[in-house]
Amino acid sequence: MKPLRVALLGCGTVGSEVVRLLHEQAADLTARIGAPLELAGVAVRRLDRTREHVAPELLTTDAMGLVTREDVDIVVEVIGGIEPARSLLLAAMKSGKSVVTANKALLAEDGETIFGAAREYGADLYYEAAVAGAIPLLRPLRESLVGDHVKRVIGIVNGTTNYILDRMDSCGASFSDALEEAQELGYAEADPTADVEGFDAAAKAAILAQLAFHTPVSAADVHREGITEVSAADVAGAKAMDSVVKLLAICERVPDPEGRNNGGRGVSVRVYPAMIPRSHPLASVREAYNAVFVEAESAGSLMFYGAGAGGAPTASAVLGDLVAVARNRVGGTRGPVEVTYAELPVLPMGET
Ligand code: HSE
Repeated sequence: MKPLRVALLGCGTVGSEVVRLLHEQAADLTARIGAPLELAGVAVRRLDRTREHVAPELLTTDAMGLVTREDVDIVVEVIGGIEPARSLLLAAMKSGKSVVTANKALLAEDGETIFGAAREYGADLYYEAAVAGAIPLLRPLRESLVGDHVKRVIGIVNGTTNYILDRMDSCGASFSDALEEAQELGYAEADPTADVEGFDAAAKAAILAQLAFHTPVSAADVHREGITEVSAADVAGAKAMDSVVKLLAICERVPDPEGRNNGGRGVSVRVYPAMIPRSHPLASVREAYNAVFVEAESAGSLMFYGAGAGGAPTASAVLGDLVAVARNRVGGTRGPVEVTYAELPVLPMGET
């Protein structure tokens, strides 16, 4: 069977793990897909470093040239940020490529453009790695639960802040010492502001709310508070009350007593540090792990738990998407198409 050619955009923590898995699992992936995956090129910012398992001639700084090349079938984007990622993904979809992205910031800030392009060009678009790393969460919301009525999604979706709060709780560490440790372990984003000020969690909450409630939600709609104001004394105070401080992302439908708007008056999407009793299941989420509860009308309560950050866990989610889009190409089909139809207002804090 003709190989499926993959263009990889970015070869940092996640990208290099994607390359490793493509190399080490090549035979299994071929068997599972029914065709081999072949690396067509890797777009990087600088060419002066060698990358394991990547032949030097595959490296390029011309990302746009790579994504629009005729011999490329699938584009995997792990560079993050808004630009140039948005232009690259739009060009890829326009030229008939299937797309896998881990880019939560882009999907949360301008999902409308990206999802709109996928619809317009009939492109396959998967993005499991954008939220909660290795945890299969978006696919269940997009596919398994799409026939249900999701009422609430609540959880810990940022590994760095959970690590910091956990260290402050378990060792009495200061915020800055714990942040330094999280950075050394590679959990924090390049600029830790995104983690500690709650932007990363807010972007993930927006994506989750949009999928759960089928209504447009962008990062700007999310009420956001980070953890920079949480002091060692706050954490010790919570401990004295047999509680812990966790940065929670909460997405919920706000019921309408008259049952309008698809069963809701609107939605509330918020991220803030909250004190929760130590007996609560979310209190036992340690280190950089994530956990998310989904409450749906018929399914009841579901809990998703696992590694929410780190190169290999995130690459696992990317590979899952890569196999999905590859199988779709082999079968001449495509995955779910995002449609938001509910138009539920995102209510500000205080109106919920
Ligand atoms: N910095 C993010 C986190 C990485 O700590 O959760 C995964 O999105």
